[in-house]
Amino acid sequence: MDTAMLYALRDPLGIPAHPVIFLILGVATWALHIAAVHVLLGSSFLAIRGAFSGDDHWRRLASAMVNTAKVAISVAIVVGVAPLLFVQVIYDPFWYTSNVLSAWWVIGFIFILIVATLALFIFYAMNYELRTKKTRCPGSMIVAILLFLVVGFIMHALSVQMLEPDKWLEWYAPNGVIDASGRSIHAYNPWRFAFFIALSLPVIGIWLFGYRRYLQGAGEEDQDYLDFIKRLGTRLGAIGTAISLVLLVIWMRGLPGDISDFATGPWPIAAAVALIIAAAYPLVLGRRLDQGLWGYTPILVATVAMIVVAAMREAIRWVTLFGVHGYNPLDYKIVMDWYSTGLFFITFGVLGGSVVAYLLTVAWQAGQTQGTYTPSRAVNRMGTVSIVLLVLWVAQYFGFGLWTAYA
Ligand code: HEM
Repeated sequence: MDTAMLYALRDPLGIPAHPVIFLILGVATWALHIAAVHVLLGSSFLAIRGAFSGDDHWRRLASAMVNTAKVAISVAIVVGVAPLLFVQVIYDPFWYTSNVLSAWWVIGFIFILIVATLALFIFYAMNYELRTKKTRCPGSMIVAILLFLVVGFIMHALSVQMLEPDKWLEWYAPNGVIDASGRSIHAYNPWRFAFFIALSLPVIGIWLFGYRRYLQGAGEEDQDYLDFIKRLGTRLGAIGTAISLVLLVIWMRGLPGDISDFATGPWPIAAAVALIIAAAYPLVLGRRLDQGLWGYTPILVATVAMIVVAAMREAIRWVTLFGVHGYNPLDYKIVMDWYSTGLFFITFGVLGGSVVAYLLTVAWQAGQTQGTYTPSRAVNRMGTVSIVLLVLWVAQYFGFGLWTAYA
């Protein structure tokens, strides 16, 4: 497709801050999104694996993992919205075209996600005592996992279709006959998709180290269970990383001819090295895994590895859209809007920081307390401050809106 045509599809109003901000935030938030997706898929997988087992350790793990999945689905959805916003801002010609070409699936995405989430919660509700009682309705968890994969596949197809502007016309009007139904998925790459999904194995393995340290902090006495978690985490980390790396290599070897050099460049190597470091790190820590905050650092290292993977994914988009098609997202017209830019960062840093800090503190302290947990005065004050900030935020939101509309 003509580069000028791609530029013509841009929003003529421009964007409210420098595009590099959207680019960086897009990569960072997608890394968080996919990490949450990995925890969701990994914990769901371990939950169903454990639910079919008669072994005490597996059943206890399954019970914990259902709770993890229940939280991870919310986090995955919430942090999925952020990259959705950023990709729309600087890649709007590509993202919207890809969405419109498969509109039926884009709308279907929401309904499939709702059914998947319901299925997960049905499993959760029917298996409060998974650890000690017989598993009920395991099919609901299997349905949830399969539908999560369908949801991910839709996002995958949209991400791939946007990279092939040359084919858009052919997809829109095959053999010259317009098909405006939006019912087709036009492009996908099984190796790319499998790579992103397979990363769930090492990520949940690394997550298990954090879970183990958390149990230790809460005075866990069952050393056998802690050893079981450590063994499983190590195995998932090693096997999962090996599988992911094989898929990465196959994906890279199949890149289109015009960007095939990418496969031997620094990005895939950086991603592979980051993944290997993340999987090996808990082993390197040795005994320190059981000490203080060290036990949680594998999760931090894995997060950095995900950011490297996200940067590699963005680099592929860059070499395709800029290198091959001449579209530079960084030369987007800027109409600087300090209010909305300032509001975004204040909301993110101050409001988000305060609310998340409060919720994490309560969740953390409750988990580390034997018996009933009573928050301290300082923690209660954190909660009050968060609510006050939230009220102020809502007031300024409507206040500023009304002032702009009527003043
Ligand atoms: C829970 C099920 C989900 C799974 C398994 C999943 C998985 C994935 C995967 C594998 C990708 C990468 C596709 C690729 O590059 O080939 C992706 C991208 C993406 N996902 Fe999700 N996702 C899920 C839910 C969501 C939700 C609920 C949202 C938004 C509300 C979302 C927003 C996005 C966006 C915007 C991208 C592309 C970002 C970009 O191209 O910059 N996802 N997702």
